[in-house]
Amino acid sequence: MADGTARSGRLIVVSNRIPKGDVPAGGLVFAIHEALSRSGGLWIGAAKPGTTVEDKLTQIGSGAYDRATFPITKKEHRGHYLGYSNSVLWPLFHHRTDLLSLDSRDFDAYAAVNARVARIVAATAEPEDVIWIQDYHFLMVAQELRKLGVENRIGLFLHIPFPNLSDAMAMPQVGQIGGWLAAHDLVGLQTSRDVTAAQDVLRSDPKAQILNNGSWIREGRVFSVRSFPIGIDAENFAETAARAPVVDLQMAEDAPLLLGVDRLDYSKGLVHRFDAFGMYLQTRAPRDPRPTFLQIAPVSREDVSAYQDIREDLERTAGSTNGAHAELDWTPIRYIRHHVDRDVIAGLYRRADVALVTPLADGMNLVAKEYVAAQDPEDPGVLILSHFAGAAEQMGGAALMVNPFDTRAFAQAIDRAIHMPLAERRERHADLRDGVFRQDIRWWTESFLSRLTQAPRTFERGLRERP
Ligand code: G6P
Repeated sequence: MADGTARSGRLIVVSNRIPKGDVPAGGLVFAIHEALSRSGGLWIGAAKPGTTVEDKLTQIGSGAYDRATFPITKKEHRGHYLGYSNSVLWPLFHHRTDLLSLDSRDFDAYAAVNARVARIVAATAEPEDVIWIQDYHFLMVAQELRKLGVENRIGLFLHIPFPNLSDAMAMPQVGQIGGWLAAHDLVGLQTSRDVTAAQDVLRSDPKAQILNNGSWIREGRVFSVRSFPIGIDAENFAETAARAPVVDLQMAEDAPLLLGVDRLDYSKGLVHRFDAFGMYLQTRAPRDPRPTFLQIAPVSREDVSAYQDIREDLERTAGSTNGAHAELDWTPIRYIRHHVDRDVIAGLYRRADVALVTPLADGMNLVAKEYVAAQDPEDPGVLILSHFAGAAEQMGGAALMVNPFDTRAFAQAIDRAIHMPLAERRERHADLRDGVFRQDIRWWTESFLSRLTQAPRTFERGLRERP
C-alpha cells in the first residue's frame, strides 16, 4: 500500500460532510481526502437532504478514490444533524450541558440514519476492506454493522472532545456508549485527556472490563481506545502561505495584527477573546502602535438556536469595545462573518504577529497548527493557545498558554505576545514548527490505520478459532 500499512482490501471512510466538488484545503474533510488519495478506496457522506430515501449510494466522483453519498430525508436531517448530533452530542461533548435540547424523536432519527449507513456499508464492503468512521454523527454505525454480521476491521475517530462521565450522564443513552465503542476494533481520540475521559465512562459500564494490555473487552469484543492527535499537511500549507496574496489591511507598518479564525461556535470562546482584547486595550501603553484584532468567524449551523444567540453576543461585545476605543482612523476589532478563501487566510496567518486560538473546549484546533506552519521562521509570530484546545497537549510547551476564562491574565498574555523579543519568538516557533511538521496529517493517518489493521481480533473469535 502507498501509505505503508499492511492492507489488502479497500479503505472505506464514512463522514457526514463530503465535498461535492474540489476538496477545501484544511480541516477534517482535507484529512480524509489526504488519506484516501494515497490508499485509494471509497468515501461515503451525506447527500443533500431530500424527500425519499433508498438504501443506495450515489456516486459523486471518482479518481484516486471513489466518492458517494447516502440519502437522507429533510426530516431525518433535522433529527440526525440539527437535533441529536448538534443539539445533544456537540454541546454535551463540549461541556455545555446547559445547551442540551433533548427530544427522543431526534435520537430515533439519529439511530435510523446510522442503521441505514450501516446497511449501505455492509452491502458494499468486501471481507478485507477496512472501515473508518469519522466523528460524532455516526457513533452507532459500527454496532449496526456487527448486528448485520460484518466482521471487518472498523475504526472510529472522534474529532471532538470525549465527554467526562458527569456530562455524559446528561445523555439519556449514556448506558449505550460502551456498546457503541466496543463494536469498533479501535477508537481514536485526539488527546490523552480524552482517553482518560473515555476510560472513566467505560469503567462505569458493568459489562466492560479493562485487560492487562490496556485494551477493553465487552461482551466478547476486544477493542482499544487510544489518542492520535490529528495534524495538517504542514509542508503544503507552509508553501501556500509563503506565496499567498498580500491583502492590504490599511494598517500602519509597525501596527501589530492579531488574528482569530474560527467557525462561529460557542465552544470557540470568541466573547471571552473579545473581552480579553478589550481589557488589553484599556491597559496598553498609549505610545505603543495601535493594534488591530481581525476575527474571521463564518456563521455555522444557523438552524440550531444556540448558534443564533452567540452571533448577537459577539456583535454586541465587538461593538462596545470598538465604541470605547476606536478613533477616527482606527477600529481595534474587525470582525468578518463571511467566508474567506483559504489562500487569503494563509497569507493573513503569515502576516499576523499574534494568533489567538483560545477555545473553551476543542478536540484539536488545526488553526493553531496552520498558523505555526504559515510563519516565516526568521521572523515568526506568537501563538496564544488555550489550555482547553486539544492542541495544548502537543504545543503547550512552546505556545503562550492562557485560560480564556481569566480575562486579566489573558490580556497580559496579549501584551507579552505583542512585545516578545525576536530571539524568544524564534525559539518558541522552532519548537512548535518541529512538532507540526513531524506529526503531520500523513503521520496521523498512518498511525491510526496501521494500529487499526494490526488490532487483535476479538477475544470471542480467538476462543472460537482455537483448536
Ligand atoms: C467540527 C466537526 C466536524 C464538522 C465541522 C464543521 O470540526 O468535528 O465533523 O464537519 O466541525 O461542522 P459542520 O456541522 O458544518 O459540518
